[in-house]
Amino acid sequence: MKKTFKRYTLTSALPYANGPLHIGHLAGAYIPGDIFARFLRLNKQEVVYVCGSDEHGAAITIKAKKENTTPQAIIDQYHAQIKKSFADFGMSFDIYHRTSEKIHHELSQEFFLNLYEKGEFIEKYSEQYYDEDFHQFLADRYIIGTCPNCGNEGAYGDQCEKCGASLSPTDLINPVSTLSGKAPVLRNTKHWYLPLDKYQPWLEQWLLEGKKDLLKPNVFGQCSSWLKQGLQARSMTRDLDWGVDVPLQEATGKKLYVWLDAPIGYISATKQWALDTGNDWEKYWKKQPDAADDTCLIHFIGKDNIVFHCITFPSILHAHGEYVLPENIPANEFLNLEGDKLSTSRNHAVWLHEYLEELPGKQDELRYVLTSILPETSDSEFTWKDFQARINNELVAIFGNFINRVAVLSHKYFDGKVQAPSHLTVTDKFVLEELSRYPERIASSLEQYRFREALAQFMNVARLGNKYLADEEPWKVIKTDEARVKTVLNIGLQIAANLTVLAQPFLPFTAEKLFTMLNLERSGWDNAGRPDLLPEGHQLGAVQLLFEKITDEQIDYQLDKLSLAKTKNAQAASKTPASPAKASISFDDFAAMDIRTGIILAAEKVAKTKKLLKLTIDTGIDQRTVVSGIAEYFEPETIVGRQVSILVNLEPRNIKGIESKGMILMAEDADGRLDFVTPQSKFKPGSTIR
Ligand code: 2FM
Ligand code: ZN
Repeated sequence: MKKTFKRYTLTSALPYANGPLHIGHLAGAYIPGDIFARFLRLNKQEVVYVCGSDEHGAAITIKAKKENTTPQAIIDQYHAQIKKSFADFGMSFDIYHRTSEKIHHELSQEFFLNLYEKGEFIEKYSEQYYDEDFHQFLADRYIIGTCPNCGNEGAYGDQCEKCGASLSPTDLINPVSTLSGKAPVLRNTKHWYLPLDKYQPWLEQWLLEGKKDLLKPNVFGQCSSWLKQGLQARSMTRDLDWGVDVPLQEATGKKLYVWLDAPIGYISATKQWALDTGNDWEKYWKKQPDAADDTCLIHFIGKDNIVFHCITFPSILHAHGEYVLPENIPANEFLNLEGDKLSTSRNHAVWLHEYLEELPGKQDELRYVLTSILPETSDSEFTWKDFQARINNELVAIFGNFINRVAVLSHKYFDGKVQAPSHLTVTDKFVLEELSRYPERIASSLEQYRFREALAQFMNVARLGNKYLADEEPWKVIKTDEARVKTVLNIGLQIAANLTVLAQPFLPFTAEKLFTMLNLERSGWDNAGRPDLLPEGHQLGAVQLLFEKITDEQIDYQLDKLSLAKTKNAQAASKTPASPAKASISFDDFAAMDIRTGIILAAEKVAKTKKLLKLTIDTGIDQRTVVSGIAEYFEPETIVGRQVSILVNLEPRNIKGIESKGMILMAEDADGRLDFVTPQSKFKPGSTIR
């Protein structure tokens, strides 16, 4: 039986206030959350939908450093911009808060102290990376290196955004400070660790057993793979000078880890909302005396946030004990743009604030296209040509056309007054019967977080109306049978009224226009499906155009913008100075490296990784296996027989369960382009390189 809840707390990931929003953000955490919140409200559920800016952590301080300003200036600028973009886009958050507020700092400290007093944290001195030039410990995004899990060379100190793995800086292979570009040194420092290993049995039970039929497969898959690898304790404090102070005397100068305080931001936002509106925030977050009164907590996020919402935050809530746990975490995968990853640094993006200025009044058009292509189960792709096609061929040609026809004809023949239907034909009955089924179909898709499917069902209602009018041809029948036209237009208008109600979660601006145009009273989901939403004699409002065609010029403008960004990038890359030289080494250190020529005898992809190839190399000394992160650049079959240079006396390392003996020498440019470093002519395997 379907579980029912008293009320809902919905959250969409708190975006870092270090840059503007783009369509990737919308497709990940915001459009699904907003559709769901609107749908629940239409079903008269008690809902609070919260969001806000994530204003702590290295994401902010690194941006401030780059722009030669203060973290406060960065968060003030981007918080205001993000908040405005969300409002202009029509996001229906009950509050858009920020984590720099006092109420948030206090609540985060309360959480930390609660766990601290229960003795949950492990207090530990450990060696952490430190940048000697910048006199700073290198937490999280201050350090990058190769992910030991997937070979991604741009993994951060706390997470690889490519495979989602949660990391510690010391897990990274070849770590480099993002401040000085140099290899860091290790220094001793004390931190407070959350014992995720201790919670592992509980997590397996709660998440893997308890939610195996609820979680989306992409979410379940990621979680079970981490739990299979075994969780480790994670530090919840940082040596940083920006963030929430650790509320302990002995930790003066240290801050809470941003991934401890950010999700608590959902709770502090709710607290602020309750203060502003006279509500009781605890009802929305805390366990109730009778479990049947508990709130349903749902987190809408992108895939890079899965580990924090499925493992870390629930562990914190569980350890605290007073809070409800998330019922579901319907994470989306990534959205790509024109065949390439969205990238803030390369300016390869469609920025929301620019879209809203350049295509004013077209919020629903963007909502429609993004909902149609949401990366619900795998990465998906936005292209401007597809944007144009979906709007022109679907929104304009089907939905808009149907509404326009039925409204214009009703005004033309009956002065905009709804006429009583008379004899119903088999077709009429079939159409009304179909109409009555859609609200349940759409609801069922939405309840399973299948937003694409729900939108497609919604458009089928418009298709039903369009086909009905095309088949019944009231513009021809009017010449011979006015009574029949009254019936046809009545049914057409009932379909239009139903589309108005059903459009509300997906296309809120259009639904508003339609309510005015049909002079229809606002109505919830329970009314949808009815054949009498517009009573006989009801006076319609004036006809409005719902959608306009997107022109080739509008699309070309957007495509030109993207290619201009590409050109600028290429120019900037050619001017970018090479990364600074590493610290000097002695001649003996150099001479200690034994580099030889070799031949690739065999190459194959390493299962479940994108970047890694397993190579068998003839080194002249032996035949050995080397795991190399080049799979995105070279197809295995094309490199067999190639000459390579190989460092043969590198200590063996275990990569993805394979013992890798040695390192292939590669050249890499700032864009990450890779090529083999080899002699120009063929050498016998085992020849020395010096
Ligand atoms: O990935 C991000 O952009 C994070 N700022 C998301 C935080 S979600 C939540 F936990 F606050
Ligand atoms: Zn990875």
